[in-house]
Amino acid sequence: MSRFPFPIPYSWYQVAWSDELPVGGVRPLYYFATDLVLWRDDDGTAHLQDAICPHLGAHLGHGGHVEGCTLQCPFHGWRYDGEGTNVDIPYSSRTNGRAKLRTYPVVERNGLIMAWYHPDGVEPLFDIPEVPELNDDARFTPQVHRSFDIPAAWQEIAENQVDVAHFRYVHNTDIVPEIAEYSTDGHMAYLRSEQKFPTPQGTVDGRIDVDTYCPGFGVVRFSGIVDTVLLGCNTPITAEECQLRFTFTVRRFDDERFTSAVGDAFVEEVSRQVQEDIPIWKYKGHLQRPALADTDGPYLQFRSWASQFYAEGVDYDRAVYAPNRPASAQPEPEGVHKRTASARLKGEDTHGADMALD
Ligand code: FES
Ligand SMILES: [Fe+2]
Repeated sequence: MSRFPFPIPYSWYQVAWSDELPVGGVRPLYYFATDLVLWRDDDGTAHLQDAICPHLGAHLGHGGHVEGCTLQCPFHGWRYDGEGTNVDIPYSSRTNGRAKLRTYPVVERNGLIMAWYHPDGVEPLFDIPEVPELNDDARFTPQVHRSFDIPAAWQEIAENQVDVAHFRYVHNTDIVPEIAEYSTDGHMAYLRSEQKFPTPQGTVDGRIDVDTYCPGFGVVRFSGIVDTVLLGCNTPITAEECQLRFTFTVRRFDDERFTSAVGDAFVEEVSRQVQEDIPIWKYKGHLQRPALADTDGPYLQFRSWASQFYAEGVDYDRAVYAPNRPASAQPEPEGVHKRTASARLKGEDTHGADMALD
C-alpha cells in the first residue's frame, strides 16, 4: 500500500547548488523516482537528463564525461547534446534518432540549479524569481546551506507552515505564532505571521513572511532579531521521501563577527526545528479529513492550493494513510516521546534528550 495518496507534483525543484557543479562536472542524481544525470557543458550551461543510455542502458552519471557541449556515455562512447539528441556514435557514420534522453528544463538562479519536473513533460507553466537578498553581497552574507532527507511526501512537510499549534509542542516556543494572513493566487501562496522569538535578553517580536511559488521553491523572510532570508527547496526523491535544502543569507550588521555569530545561531535554530519535525513526519498518518480545532491554521486552504500541482490527480483509496511497516515489525522505540501524554498536558518539557533522532 502506498504511504501517501499523492503523486509527485509538477514544480521547479532544486537539484544542486551551483557551486557543486563545476564546468565539465557530471553528477548522478536520483529524484522524481528516476535515475538522472546532471552535467555542466564547456560553455557553463547545466543540463539535467534521464541517466539511462538508450543504447544499452549504461548510467551516464557514473563514468560519463563532458566533451565540449555533449555528454559521452562511458559504455560505447555515444554522445548526447543538451537537448538529449544523439549527436555521435563513434564507430558509425550515422546517429540514432530513437536514442533521445529525456531532458528537463533547467534554470540557474540565486546560486541554485533548478529543474522543472512535470509528469507529462509539459513545459514550465510559470517562472521562479531572482531573490534580491541572495544577489546582494554588500548587504547580505554569503549563503549558508543545509540539507535534510525527510521520509515524507512534500505536502506533509509543507503543511507544517500553516500548523501554528505544533510550535509549542514540537519546537517548545513559549508563544504560538499567529497567522495574520494566508492567501493564494494561482501557483502562489502567501503566508504572513507574527512570532515571538525568545532571546537571552527577553522575547522579541518578529515576523515570518513566506512566499511559496510551487512545491519546490519557497522564500521565507524572517525579521525581528535579525533579517534572514531562507530559500526552502523541497525535492521529491520519490513520492514518499524528499530532500529538503535550505539556503540562508543574513543581513549584515556593521560588526562582521557579530553578524556571523547571530547568523550561525539563527541557522542552527531553524535546522534544529526541522530535526524536531522529522520524527513527527516520519510516523504521522495522513488524514483525508482531519478533525480540526476552530483556531487551527488554514489547512483546508493550503490543501486546496497544493492539489493544483498533481497533474495525475490525487486518488484517496482510504481515509487514513498510516506509516507502513512489515507485518512482523514492532514499532521502533526511537524517535518517540517516552513521557506520557498526561505529562505533556501538565506542561513538562518534552524536548531535548528524550527526542531521539535517526
Ligand atoms: S550504453 Fe551508452 S553508448 Fe552504449
Ligand atoms: Fe515545525
